[in-house]
Amino acid sequence: MTSAETEAPTWTPNVDNPYLQGIHAPTVHESCAFDLEVEGELPTDLFGAYVRNGPNSVFQPRNAYHWFDGDGMVHAVYFRDGKASYRSRLVPTAGLRKEAQAGHALWNGVMGPLNQEGMDLRAKDTANTDVVWHSGKLYALWYLCGEPYTLDPLTLEPTGVDDFGGKRRTTVSAHPKVDERTGEMVWFTLDDFEPPYMTYGVCDRDGKLVHQVPIDLPGVRASHDITITQNYSILHDFPFFQDPELLQKHGFRVARFHRDLPSRFGVIPRRGGTDEVRWFEFEPGYVLHMVNAWEEGDWIVMDGCFQPDPSIRRNPEEGPLASMLAYLRIQTHLRRWRMNLATGECKEEQLDDLNTEFCLPDTLLYGEKTRFSYHQYLPADMHTVEFRALVKYDHEDGSCVRYDYPDGWFASESPYARRVGAQSEDDGYVVTIMMNPDGRSEAWVFDARQIERGSVARVRLPSRVPAGFHAKWIPGERIWTEA
Ligand SMILES: [Fe+2]
Repeated sequence: MTSAETEAPTWTPNVDNPYLQGIHAPTVHESCAFDLEVEGELPTDLFGAYVRNGPNSVFQPRNAYHWFDGDGMVHAVYFRDGKASYRSRLVPTAGLRKEAQAGHALWNGVMGPLNQEGMDLRAKDTANTDVVWHSGKLYALWYLCGEPYTLDPLTLEPTGVDDFGGKRRTTVSAHPKVDERTGEMVWFTLDDFEPPYMTYGVCDRDGKLVHQVPIDLPGVRASHDITITQNYSILHDFPFFQDPELLQKHGFRVARFHRDLPSRFGVIPRRGGTDEVRWFEFEPGYVLHMVNAWEEGDWIVMDGCFQPDPSIRRNPEEGPLASMLAYLRIQTHLRRWRMNLATGECKEEQLDDLNTEFCLPDTLLYGEKTRFSYHQYLPADMHTVEFRALVKYDHEDGSCVRYDYPDGWFASESPYARRVGAQSEDDGYVVTIMMNPDGRSEAWVFDARQIERGSVARVRLPSRVPAGFHAKWIPGERIWTEA
């Protein structure tokens, strides 16, 4: 038995699902370790924390497991004075606590059917998707819109559910954006059943809700991200959304691609009203994640990973898991959209053809013009989602460089970590957690200016880290002085 198997819950061999095996297998360990073994040398000007969220099922699933269903678990690697430490902890959501009392899973996952006696039509709020640092708090957030759970940044101990200064009345989606110039956090949330199908909001630098408005949408939508510029926020309305009748009557969340409808971006002033949203129409498709957006005169410029055809293509040979596996095989390319606020003109262009996602600029520069972004390469023929290469785009000259991970190693989302005393946009590091199916997990540090040369340091982690979703870099002075 490999170490990977021994660290997984005892029920995992009973479930035939590739997202519960290998690098995707959940772990039973919540770990803490200091002064970790390092291969190479950790730079002393790497000061801060790599924090990553991801799914980690505690109980055997009730229905066909989807990778997005697992309970949220946060992993953090801390870098200070050339040394590294590590912590991991489950997010003790209300749903997980209820299941712990029952001793088994209570909710079906997103493959449905979601409706069960005594339960609502939603999947369990797992808080498993994103981590965001704002107003001295570390949030764990869910992509289907849930409670903003807060964690102590150093111990990852739960500190509650944030109420945005006593004013929050809605859920919050994953992927809020923080404007470092104003300290504001810009967010949205969705409603699957009744208008407003989207709500847009802003919290001030102290975390207090200062603005919230309903957004007019024609129906239920599956928007996943939001971007900001200095003065505006950009909301998503893509023609790839769930069938509301199937969800409400039968409890199945089935998304369909409507090729006859445009992709629409709604530009709203930062604290604008419902009637101030201006919609711009583009080629139909879908976007999970945008890189960044900014203003150039009257133009809004936005880069993101565009899926021209998000329709679900099942492979019948994969049997009952075919739909779930098909949902996760995305075909994307880097695209740029331009929207002119004076003339209403729209432009869009494909910037590259490489299939990349989990794209991050220097997140301290959200809303400002950025030159570089760091992506994960996803091979088109993959069976399960595996990050196979780190790709660095130069959005100014259109070039890109890549580093293919060695055989057997797969990455996590890889944020840029600004070097202490950085002089320019890529004067720093790229940090990630790497997984190997043999059970090894390591934190790798790349020189952001030379990612193609591979890692400059590898930190051995004390226990296996399952493959996950979103990661952020939090500068050290925020964790060690603001908390
Ligand atoms: Fe996401």
